Amino acid sequence: MKASSIAPGYLRDRWRFAKANRKGELVLDGVPANQIAQKYGTPVYVLVESEIRDRLRRMRAAFSYPKLCLQFAGKCNSNLEILRLCREEGFELDASSVGEIILGLLADFTPEEITFTNLFKSDNDIAFAAQIGVAAITADSLEELERMNHVGQRIGTKIKVFVRINPEIELGNYSTKKHKYGIPLKQAKKAILFVLKAKHLEIVGLHFHGSYINDPKAYFLAAEKLLKLAAFSTQKGRVIQFIDLGGGFPTPIGNQKVFEPEDFGQEFSEFFEKTCRKLGIPLPTLILEPGKFIVRSAGLGLMRVVSKKPLLHGEVLVTDGSAYSFLPDVLFLNEKFDFLPLEKMNKPKTNKYDLAGCTCDNIDVLAEKTSLPQMKADDLLAVMDCGAYTHVLTSNFNTVKRAPMVMVHQNQIVKLIRRRDRFSEMFAPELDVLKVADPAQLMRYYNLHRVNIDKIWRDSKNNNGKNHQKVKREKTKSKKRKK
Ligand SMILES: Cc1ncc(COP(=O)(O)O)c(C=O)c1O
Repeated sequence: MKASSIAPGYLRDRWRFAKANRKGELVLDGVPANQIAQKYGTPVYVLVESEIRDRLRRMRAAFSYPKLCLQFAGKCNSNLEILRLCREEGFELDASSVGEIILGLLADFTPEEITFTNLFKSDNDIAFAAQIGVAAITADSLEELERMNHVGQRIGTKIKVFVRINPEIELGNYSTKKHKYGIPLKQAKKAILFVLKAKHLEIVGLHFHGSYINDPKAYFLAAEKLLKLAAFSTQKGRVIQFIDLGGGFPTPIGNQKVFEPEDFGQEFSEFFEKTCRKLGIPLPTLILEPGKFIVRSAGLGLMRVVSKKPLLHGEVLVTDGSAYSFLPDVLFLNEKFDFLPLEKMNKPKTNKYDLAGCTCDNIDVLAEKTSLPQMKADDLLAVMDCGAYTHVLTSNFNTVKRAPMVMVHQNQIVKLIRRRDRFSEMFAPELDVLKVADPAQLMRYYNLHRVNIDKIWRDSKNNNGKNHQKVKREKTKSKKRKK
């Protein structure tokens, strides 16, 4: 592979799986990306196994603390194949809903390898998780602790609880003071005492999740505050077994600069152990719950340019991807992604284009003034670093199908790990309502005629729309007859 086959400024060091071949085509761990687009259609997400495994291992290697438990935060990409990889690499699972607990079980995690943490859990959610035997359920407020105690009583179980704390950290422009999570530090002792007295609860851990952390000092400050509370609980007769510091480990999009686990993991491990010794408490298990660090850079999306439009404000490439059904991060977080010309990696960046999403909404724009070589309709584009919080946040806006996901495994094997949406399942929640109504009700309440949509769709595809015309003509005739 010649280095000269890539024009400058396309590939970043963090995409170690990405190269270009002599034709200037992007190659992912030995697999030409255009072959994936050809086989699975566009838009399509691609996850690279080697990169996911590497990041799972990096995370473990970075922290030398002897009682370390790593959990993958399933919410950032809950694909079953990814969950399975995480389990194979010795990770446990941080689930944020009953749905994610079920996915975890389907990916062969045992219930004891799953913790359940979210801002709100219904009584049924709590009962389900406790009865299935998850390692712990995180309580987010005093009210929730009370409710969990009642649920424990109802189902005859002592529920294992993590108490989630807001340690009220301020570090430059980062502050947890306005976070919606957890019990404020001032009320933390009261919450611990409540659990110690509650008949149907057992405190096993303390939890903190710092969201978008941009300075590793946040972990040191949070650990110190949680360990002091662990010492308080020990004094009151109950040793805390787990300190969970959540996720929030950053990983860049575009040219962002962030800290890496290796930058502070060793120092943090020593600090954590030393603080426990200073406070005179037995070493708890330290849980970390990385999400985006594991999968963001291991994922990319492939799209096709469907037209090039010279508009008043410049040239626009319309793509078959969308900010709604493919790359929602640009709408939610205004992220600036890297876009690569899949088959023109040897051509320099000579032009600037806006990239438009395909839906009927003017704000559906994927990027502005992106530097690319000369592009035309039918060219392929890759959007990098979209393996986390992308697919899980997409919607079917405009009734567009969400993209499939494939994984590039080792030995250049590519497998489908999620298929494209189907209309049948997208429409099912509404069709299910219609199914229960009889035809007279349909006419009265919904003003609907039963039409065999599937037949029209199939026939119009086979007959170039002639049947569609026929249906229209028949409708007009029947209207005339009625008159
Ligand atoms: C409780 C908890 N743990 C872990 C994570 C993962 O965070 P990240 O993807 O930033 O590592 C989240 C994200 O919202 C979370 O809420």
